[in-house]
Amino acid sequence: MMKLHLRYRPIQEVGFLQVLCSRKYYRAMWLCSLTVLIMMITYHLNGEELGIREFDRKNFVGGKFKHAISLLLKNSSPTNTKLILNASLSIKQKSTVIQNSTKDGSTHTNDCQRWCHKKNTASSTYFLSGVLLVRIYSSDLAKLSTRELLQWLYYLKYAGFEHVYVYDAYVYENESQKNALEFLVKEDFVTYVDWSHNAFPYSITGTQESAYQHCLKTWGNKSYWQASIDMDEYPFCPEDTKPNFMQRFIANFSREQPRVSQITMKNFLFLGKPLSDKEHPILIDRLKRRTHRPANDLVKPIYKTSHIKQSHVHHHDLSHGFSVDADENKIRLNHYWGARLQNWGEDTPEILSKTMEDNTVEEIVRELQKCDHVCLPDGSIIHTVRWN
Ligand SMILES: *[C@@H]1O[C@H](CO)[C@@H](O)[C@H](O)[C@H]1NC(C)=O
Ligand SMILES: *[C@@H]1O[C@H](CO)[C@@H](O)[C@H](O)[C@H]1NC(C)=O
Ligand SMILES: *[C@@H]1O[C@H](CO)[C@@H](O)[C@H](O)[C@H]1NC(C)=O
Ligand SMILES: *[C@@H]1O[C@H](CO)[C@@H](O)[C@H](O)[C@H]1NC(C)=O
Ligand SMILES: *[C@@H]1O[C@H](CO)[C@@H](O)[C@H](O)[C@H]1NC(C)=O
Repeated sequence: MMKLHLRYRPIQEVGFLQVLCSRKYYRAMWLCSLTVLIMMITYHLNGEELGIREFDRKNFVGGKFKHAISLLLKNSSPTNTKLILNASLSIKQKSTVIQNSTKDGSTHTNDCQRWCHKKNTASSTYFLSGVLLVRIYSSDLAKLSTRELLQWLYYLKYAGFEHVYVYDAYVYENESQKNALEFLVKEDFVTYVDWSHNAFPYSITGTQESAYQHCLKTWGNKSYWQASIDMDEYPFCPEDTKPNFMQRFIANFSREQPRVSQITMKNFLFLGKPLSDKEHPILIDRLKRRTHRPANDLVKPIYKTSHIKQSHVHHHDLSHGFSVDADENKIRLNHYWGARLQNWGEDTPEILSKTMEDNTVEEIVRELQKCDHVCLPDGSIIHTVRWN
């Protein structure tokens, strides 16, 4: 509890001293300190309810919880502090936001920078990273080009991923994404891994699983949680589309089920003939019909890196804890398959009946487009097709 340090002043008058030593005096002092304490707490709580901007800017993850912790910390002994810190580990906030001090109404710029210019403090671990195995090739009928790769990385940044390990399984030199990703490597958002020696002939174990395993072995201890997903798979929380939703989801989940080491996301396919990619350069803005239910059992995992024994594509083997399928209303994978099932042709009645309209991602699309010139070296890089 809060301690009040009372100064003892030399007192001449014996009668006054007697008053000081009396029970009444102590009771009054107690009441007084209690009132001060209550006033301080009320002050803090009010600030919290008003959603103090300064505070919000610094904390995306469980703002109130974090604030409550800082309150507790102020008033607790070192032992308690340790316990509380440990309990709050899941709501990790090691990343700090570079603040833009210009307050000349450039709230728009600031809003964008809140999520896209987060800096991880040196030597700290990531709360959440991603790992991707990819090959970009110009004959791809799904047209997943460098543009779509950059869009996906940009979306992950919005979602709260702090770093992505990109394993580039290019087959021809001209497919290498090294140059295209250079600016993200420089800002320490991407680690680029040349995986071309394992690219051909492609195999699940030799190309894909080996990449995930290599990532765990080499950088596993730099991330607390990690997700292994493809560049047409977008993690999405239907109830929370604000920046950093992934960290909030994981923090919520592991607070409720701390023994879970692997959370798997169900797979909703976005199907049908895409809208014009000139008018809709953003992939997730091009495909707006999805399957009613999870399309299949091909889930994708989010996992504690330290609890993985062996990597696979859908479920990793765990050394500790257990694996749980997440509620699809809390999190799912939006999987942008497009016209694959109808062999790249027009929509068929079957495809239309298998799918429903879903544009709930629109809010995020708008935010990504609004911020492109603030967050990217050149906004056009997510709008213009290129292959390397
Ligand atoms: C959290 O608690 C565990 C188990 O008691 C301990 O091993 C770990 O060091 C603690 N972490 C922190 C940050 O205090
Ligand atoms: C702050 O934003 C202004 C534009 O509003 C920009 O010119 C300036 O470089 C930014 N400063 C930092 C530190 O990001
Ligand atoms: C890359 O090279 C291959 C083989 O020479 C060729 O088929 C392909 O069209 C090239 N891709 C690009 C984007 O130039
Ligand atoms: C991860 O492990 C390596 C080698 O074992 C070690 O040098 C490094 O400091 C560790 N990093 C973290 C963040 O624990
Ligand atoms: C996390 O929990 C908070 C408070 O319980 C809730 O408002 C928020 O929607 C949750 N976020 C996710 C992504 O589950």
